Parts: sequence; structure tokens; C-alpha cells
Amino acid sequence: MINPHGGSLVNQIDINYKIDYTKENVELDSIALSDLELLANGAFSPLTGFMDEENYHAVVQNMRLKYGLPWSIPITLPVENEKAQMLKPGDTVNLVYDHTVYGVLTVTDIFTPDKMEEVQNVYQTTDKNHPGVRKVIERPDTYVGGPITLIKYPKKDRFQDYYLSPKETREKFQKLGWKTIVGFQTRNPVHRAHEYIQKTALETVDGLLLHPLVGETKAGDIPSELRMKCYQILLDNYYPKDRVSLSVFPAAMRYAGPREAVFHAIVRKNYGCTHFIVGRDHAGVGDYYGTYDAQQIFENFEEDEIGITILRFENSFYCTKCESMGTAKTCPHAVEHHVALSGTKVRAMLREGKMPPKQFSRPEVAETLIKGMSKPLMEAGR
Ligand code: ADX
Repeated sequence: MINPHGGSLVNQIDINYKIDYTKENVELDSIALSDLELLANGAFSPLTGFMDEENYHAVVQNMRLKYGLPWSIPITLPVENEKAQMLKPGDTVNLVYDHTVYGVLTVTDIFTPDKMEEVQNVYQTTDKNHPGVRKVIERPDTYVGGPITLIKYPKKDRFQDYYLSPKETREKFQKLGWKTIVGFQTRNPVHRAHEYIQKTALETVDGLLLHPLVGETKAGDIPSELRMKCYQILLDNYYPKDRVSLSVFPAAMRYAGPREAVFHAIVRKNYGCTHFIVGRDHAGVGDYYGTYDAQQIFENFEEDEIGITILRFENSFYCTKCESMGTAKTCPHAVEHHVALSGTKVRAMLREGKMPPKQFSRPEVAETLIKGMSKPLMEAGR
């Protein structure tokens, strides 16, 4: 089994922890709640809590933790100034979401971040129209760092059977006898190009972990319930059952493009993957990032520092002349023969009840999307 990032899988869960209600409450938003769970179950190994000031600066400025290990996205706990003023290092606080205590944190640091530096370095822009930048700016202005303990699991009412912790995916891979596993991050409905790169990768490894992100996404993205339905349809009809594992990644989407690709890869290593797919504009939004920036960013690290093998894929499409899927590496024909649609265009078609070409999306998947794209869910952006 591949080593977790930093050497061992973190476990900061204590379900029998006796809550001390005399302690201060610190409110979590839904991003912090999902971060809490992922810190606790080892998905974010070697992190054991929300980042202290030194690690935060090291990550923002150098894409590394303070002792040098690669880490690209700050994992922070923003707290309202008024509340932060009531805290001091050494305090233990209750971490509360929707009137329920989910965890505790021992305060080590209370600091004011330079948010402009953070967004410029992490998102490569300070533009508030970028959904990740907007989130950083909207969240409270003081960060509290320190180790956490999860004392209650967040509700898993949506895909009960699909929540596997890093420990559980590792156990599953071992049971299945898989030695090489490719992880696939996704936040969009599955289309033929996704299927093509997943299956191309699967030709050379033992198993595929389909790992759709189901935490907070921006309004307008397709809800995770619907995306999971589409995956179920594909698995039932087009994938070899014994070589594919589907479970969810309950993290929030940051839309940080290249930096998020590094983060996604490291986290999937913690889930036990040996390989990770990075295709075109991974974790991108709008045109903030170049098509292959998320692949090039890995050049900043030695391969063994990242520790998981990155499988880079070029923009994939169906070619009507080849009559197959391909990329510029394998197809000699001009773009007018390529069936390629932007995500925005496809979403607009689906909303109008129009089927995209079957070379772009499996008809069963497109039908499910058209049926499921009801307004309220879409606006919730889950
Ligand atoms: S992402 O925000 O999670 O990256 P998405 O679900 O669309 O968005 O993509 C999942 C993975 O598939 C990413 O690695 C992305 O780069 C890759 N990908 C998506 N579409 C294509 C395509 N047409 N060609 C090659 N790779 C693609």
C-alpha cells in the first residue's frame, strides 16, 4: 500500500469525547465542517488541525508546509473578530455547526491573514468574480489554528453507502487485491471524455477509484445527487464492476485550478491511490487558468515529494473521421471533425431539455440530467 503523505494516516476521531459545554463555541461554515471531517479521518494527512500561522504562510508563499512537505491549499478556520478576541492560545473550543458540536480544537494561533496575498498566490487572481476568491473574502477575517478532534460525524443522509474514509478505501483496495489504483476527481456530470481518460488509465492499472467531490460547489454546478445517479448508470452499463470503486469525496470545491490539482492528488494518495488523473483545466473555472497549467505545476516538485504518479491527459474529444475518442496526440484530423462542447453550452442545452450529441454524452446520462435539472437543487449548488 502506498504511504500516506508525510508517512502515516492521521486519525483524530473520538466519538466518545465528553463535550464540555462551558467552553467557547466557534461556529463552522459548511466548508470548515467538511474540512474538519477530512482533517480527522486522515484525508488531509499529515495535517492534524486547522493551519497555524507558520504553516499557513509557508503554504501560501511556497506551496509547502513549514518543514518542506508539499501542500498547496490553506486549510483555515476563519472566525469572526469578536469571537476571536475572546480566545487565547491553549484554550479548547467547541466547533459548532447548526447548533451541534462536531469537534473540538485546541487553539495554538490566532492571526489576521493577508487575504489579498492568499488569493493572488492560491487562485492567481484577486478578482471577486472568481468563486474561490469570493469565498475567501466573504469568510471572517481572523484565522484560528490548532489541532482538532472530530467527536461527531457530519450527517451522511445523501449517499450513505458511498462514504468511505481513507482507511476504508485502503482496506477495500487491499481486499480486492489492487496494487495500482488510479484516482479520478470530478465535480461535473460524467461525459465521454471523462470516460475515455478513465478507461485509458484503467488499461494500465489494477483499479479505478471514481471519487466525485460532493462538498460545497458554486451555484450553477450540477448537484452531486444527480452526478452520482449518472455514475451509477455508467457503472451498471459500461464499466467492469470488479475493477471500479465509486465513493464520494466530501470536500468543498475551491476552483483553484493548478494549486487544487496538487491538493487533489495528495489527498487521493491518502485514500490509497497510486496514480491520479489530471486532464485539461483541472479544477478550473472561467478562463483564469491555462489549459495545462494544472499539469505543469507538478514540475515544481520532485516526483517522490508528491509520491503519487500523475497521469496527464490532453483535451479529449470524439472525432467523426476516426469514429472514436482521441486527443491531438492520437487523432490527425482538423477541429471541425471533433465533437467538443463547453460545459456552459451543455448545461444550457440540458436545461432546455435538448439532448447533446451521443458522442459527447451517453444518452442515458443526458436523459437523467435533463430530468433532474430542477431549479431549486441547481441554485443550492450542492
Ligand atoms: S474538475 O473541476 O473536477 O477538474 P471535471 O469534473 O470536469 O472538473 O473534470 C474531472 C477531470 O477530468 C479533471 O482532471 C479534468 O482535467 C479532466 N477532464 C475533463 N474534461 C476533459 C476533456 N475533455 N479532456 C481531457 N480531460 C478532461
